[in-house]
Amino acid sequence: MNNFIFQNATKVYFGKGCVKEYLTCLTQGAKTVLLAYGGGSIKKNGIYDEIIGILKEADKTVVEFPGIMSNPTYAKVQEGAKLARDNYVDMILAVGGGSTMDCCKAVSLAARYDGDIWENFWIHPGVIDFEPLPLGVVVTAAGTGSECNGGSVITNEDTKIKTGRDYPQLNPRFALMDPTYTFSVPKKQMISGGFDILSHIMETYFSQPNENNVSDDIMEALMKNVIHNLRAAIRNPKDYTARSNLMWDSTMAENRIIKMGKKCDFQCHNMEHQLGAYTNCNHGCGLAVLHPVYYRHIYKKGLPKFVRFAENVWRITRDGKTDEEVALEGIHSLANFIKEIGLPTTLKELGADKSQLKEIADSCGISQGSYKPMNHEEILTIFQECYE
Ligand code: NZQ
Ligand code: ZN
Repeated sequence: MNNFIFQNATKVYFGKGCVKEYLTCLTQGAKTVLLAYGGGSIKKNGIYDEIIGILKEADKTVVEFPGIMSNPTYAKVQEGAKLARDNYVDMILAVGGGSTMDCCKAVSLAARYDGDIWENFWIHPGVIDFEPLPLGVVVTAAGTGSECNGGSVITNEDTKIKTGRDYPQLNPRFALMDPTYTFSVPKKQMISGGFDILSHIMETYFSQPNENNVSDDIMEALMKNVIHNLRAAIRNPKDYTARSNLMWDSTMAENRIIKMGKKCDFQCHNMEHQLGAYTNCNHGCGLAVLHPVYYRHIYKKGLPKFVRFAENVWRITRDGKTDEEVALEGIHSLANFIKEIGLPTTLKELGADKSQLKEIADSCGISQGSYKPMNHEEILTIFQECYE
């Protein structure tokens, strides 16, 4: 295994009823709370009423920060930071999926920093030598795993760059995770979030080193669990067992544990983020389109791992096949699963403009951890193969 340092500062409260049970005590000491949320789903499913009731009961001054969009923008971060400063907010409570959580991590930094956080912490890595505004999260959708890391992916609409950084200081102080809160997530988002979980695991699994590594064993268990429970949640969206497994899979994929001793790839994420910057496409949907095609480009350079994936995750049998044939069957099974659950399979479906593919490809970051490092020409080829 490669050397590593591990720490995760977020305290997790998981299970049915956890918000009711713990939110009061977790917000103790904060007089003014910035209640941040997305486009209003929490007002329809009753989560807003439950949370506002608890905060009012505890005599908090609540400042609302609504309207955080999917693929949150830097302008929205600045709006939140101003609100937090103007109202002397003591704590941010982010209630939502990855977009709300990510936006609020950036707000927690911007509220305590006078300079331009985009330039000094996102475009260039920065040093956080001050205390960001405390942040707690209530997770309402499984997918990004943002609740247990310091990652925050922000889109700058002016420069057309969507990029993320992971600062341990931005880990939420606490994460409340009630799987019943995810019952109302629409199928399209549930499957795209589910694929995002799978993608986080695959982007880590398909990277060096390949020798006996407990992280790879954990990842195979997680991938099988995601596939099984996503199918179960599609059959019955209120299946608590399925939703709770997916919720924890999502955290496990991005709480840094499986990355220990691994180089990690995340080339598909780099490509999807730029597709998102240009098309505002859904994150998990973009990943679903890219993964099978990307893997057909790189599998020969990581053949033993692709064979292992085929055999251990998709139960492909040898039956006298060559390693290449087994590996390709594994990638084919992944592509079939994407179709089976109803995710898009072409960039055209995501609304990408063919004439912009080169510009988007040229703007993508290049990962160092891939079995086969990309260049911008090959990324363009992948985009073209994905187009229709
Ligand atoms: O905005 P509202 O009205 O709340 O509706 C949301 C949104 O439309 C809806 N939703 C969430 N919980 C719901 C619900 N609808 C009904 N009932 C509920 N309980 O779901 C839609 C999508 O929400 P969003 O937060 O945008 O999705 P997701 O969790 O997939 O987050 C995507 C963002 O996270 C970034 C992505 O790039 C993208 O910007 N990522 C963050 C990562 C991290 N911090 O570690 C890692 C990821 O790889 C990813 O890049
Ligand atoms: Zn992702």
